[in-house]
Amino acid sequence: MSLFITFEGVEGSGKTTQIQRLKKYFNRKGIPCKVTREPGGCPIGEEARKILLNPDHREMVPTSELLLYEAARAQHVKEVIKPFLKKGGVVLCDRFSDATLAYQGYGRRIDLKWIERLNHLSSQGIRPDVTFLLDCPSDVGLKRALQRNRTLKQEREERFEREEIQFHQRVRKGYLAIAKKEPHRVRVIDTREGEDKVFERIRKIVDDLIGSKGSRIQGFK
Ligand code: TMP
Repeated sequence: MSLFITFEGVEGSGKTTQIQRLKKYFNRKGIPCKVTREPGGCPIGEEARKILLNPDHREMVPTSELLLYEAARAQHVKEVIKPFLKKGGVVLCDRFSDATLAYQGYGRRIDLKWIERLNHLSSQGIRPDVTFLLDCPSDVGLKRALQRNRTLKQEREERFEREEIQFHQRVRKGYLAIAKKEPHRVRVIDTREGEDKVFERIRKIVDDLIGSKGSRIQGFK
């Protein structure tokens, strides 16, 4: 058995830091754990990521964008996520199907029913055991993301970060709507509580999950 954990949130919500902390936590417990991301996570997925996040691609229409995210996911699930879960490991994935609903559905306003069907197709029956929605007001997150890009001198993610604030507000609203619909799976955590408190909350939820599934996770004692 296995555990599939996804992290979601608006730009600059601090997912990367929390994922790294959780990975270390699993390592300390001796549980095999893989960190991966969407779009990306495998050669074809990473190629799709380059196309999707290239700020020069201003002409990309929402449908192409949607299908590229789904194509990247289909490859990633088949090549990376499914095999690792099958071996009994823990997969920590930076964004998954909920991101498509939030960004392409609520953000770009593509019909949610279409996206749900495509998500179903690309994720091939895989569903997260738990999803951490790291939540903060869109302007707070956006400011952090732009600051990070400046520090890293990285331009590549500007395609989304250049969107108007209303777009990011719709994305956040979308995420919160998903969480409301599936409160058992999607755990909303306010990132304004600070990095350590956020991690404490995540760790507690993960411990509870391991408690209920522990004997089925490879290497868990
Ligand atoms: P990241 O910055 O968290 O790595 O995510 C890359 C960008 O891709 C981010 O702006 C959110 C966006 N995205 C979508 O629009 N739809 C999706 O399905 C996924 C996985 C990401």
